[in-house]
Formats: sequence, C-alpha cells, structure tokens
Amino acid sequence: MNYHTLLVSIDKNICIITINRPEKLNALNKDVFTELDKAIEEVSTNNEIKSAIITGAGAKAFVAGADISEFASLNKEQAMALSKRGQDVFFKIENSKKPIIAAVNGFALGGGCELAMACHFRLCSTNAKFGQPEVNLGLIPGYGGTQRLTKLIGKGKSMELQMTAQLLAAEDALQLGLVNYVVEPENLLPRSVEILELINTKAPVAISKIIECVNTAVDGLKDGYDEEVKAFGHCFDTNDMKEGTSAFLEKRKAIFTGK
Ligand code: COA
Repeated sequence: MNYHTLLVSIDKNICIITINRPEKLNALNKDVFTELDKAIEEVSTNNEIKSAIITGAGAKAFVAGADISEFASLNKEQAMALSKRGQDVFFKIENSKKPIIAAVNGFALGGGCELAMACHFRLCSTNAKFGQPEVNLGLIPGYGGTQRLTKLIGKGKSMELQMTAQLLAAEDALQLGLVNYVVEPENLLPRSVEILELINTKAPVAISKIIECVNTAVDGLKDGYDEEVKAFGHCFDTNDMKEGTSAFLEKRKAIFTGK
C-alpha cells in the first residue's frame, strides 16, 4: 500500500517502517498515526513479514514528539480521545505477534520516546537523546509514557525525567536499560537487521508467546493507562498548557502560573 508520511519497505522478511517528516523532526501528527496503524496491520497480515523495525528519516530525529501544532485547538475531551488513540496504536505495536524493534537514530522525545518504548526492545545510535519533556508544555506524556518509562527504568528515574524534562544521552539510556545497544549511526540499521535475522530463524509461535508472556509479566493491570488519558485531558483544561504549547510554537520561553 501507499504511504505519505512513512517509508515502508520489506527485505529479508523484515519490514522497515521509517517515519518520514524530517523537516518537522518526524513529529507524530494525525496522518502519521493513521498510517502507522495501517503499517502495523500490514506487519501482522503480510506473510512475507516476520519482524519489523521502526526508525525515523534523517540524521537528527527518530521522532521529536507528538505534533505540538495540532494541540492548540483541542479541548479536554478531544485531548483524551487523542491520548486514547495514541495509546491504542502503541498497544498494537506492543501486542504485535511479530517482533517490532525501534532503531532510535536521534531525538526520541515525548511521543517519540513513547513510540520507542512501545516496541519490544530498542537499539540507538550514539547521537540519540531520550526524554519526556511534556512538562515544558504544561502537559504530561499521553501515549503510555507515564507507565512504560516507569516499568522500564524504575520509579525514581521516571519521576525525575518527567518532572525535569531533562534528556538522556545514549549511554545513559543504555545504563538505565532503556536501550539494549548503542551503536554508531551507520551501524544502527545493519545491527537491527542482524538481530532480527537471528530472531527470524526461530519458531514464530514461540516468539509470539514470548511477547505475550513478557508483556503479561510487565503489565498485569492496565488501569494506569486510563489514569494517564484522564490526566492528559485535564492538562488541556489549564492555561499553562495553552501557554506552554504557544510558547513552543512562538519559539519563546513559557511562563507558567499554576492555572
Ligand atoms: N511538534 C511539532 N513541530 C515540531 C516538533 C513537535 N513535537 N518538534 C520539532 N518540530 C518542528 C519545529 O517547530 C521546527 O519547525 P519549523 O522549522 O517549521 O519552525 C522543526 O521541527 C525543526 O525543529 P527545531 O526546534 O527548529 O530544531 P532544533 O534542533 O532547534 O531543536 C528539539 C530540536 C527536538 C530540541 C526541538 O525541536 C524540540 O524541543 N521539539 C519539541 C520536543 C517536545 O516537546 N516533544 C514533546 C511533544 S508532546
């Protein structure tokens, strides 16, 4: 099928999905979500595909977050629907029966970090930077980030990263277990392909059951995700969120008032 915001190719039974809006640092807008949803569906239904890689176009960003320009007009209910939609697409990735890994080739911020965390595991290049900087916008992560980051790196570091909006360098992400490997940029896709080629030699049903069982081990109850949708929507009812997103788009520093 044809995609406008993604590049999708299949080689050696591996589907490479590249988010392709480099001029906006591959920010996730509505069209990207629609097409990502379709691409994951294709991974699931196309028998030629045994596994997949998600990466970003260009040398600078994997994905620099949800598209902030789409936030300005949203009310609380629409924000909750956006959060739910994002969570649902990312659940589809997380629960895919075929392995889907993230090859993080630069900034993985906000929704980009959340997308990477929804994948089964992650590799990154030496120039990668991870973070949940939503608080700078008067917001919280809304695509599962409050949950997955905590499960992946633990409560204390998760709290700190979300509260400070500070970014993690590749080596720190490795040390925290957020990524499995850090490699030079030119080796990122070859190394990702090499790992999937090995996995692709294994029994597909066993692989799908590993995914299912590991997800069960980590996720047990999913209530936290519902709380995140409500809290994300609540932020859209504040002046600080309007100030934070306007400030980003106007390229100035936000002034928060607590309202
Ligand atoms: N949503 C919409 N547009 C975005 C974006 C996002 N999340 N991230 C980057 N862009 C756009 C910029 O507005 C800019 O567009 P323009 O050229 O039309 O002005 C373009 O992508 C390049 O980004 P720019 O900010 O100029 O690059 P930089 O190298 O100076 O900074 C970042 C890179 C990643 C630090 C910066 O873009 C950033 O902070 N992005 C937002 C990160 C974020 O808060 N993500 C969470 C969103 S919920």
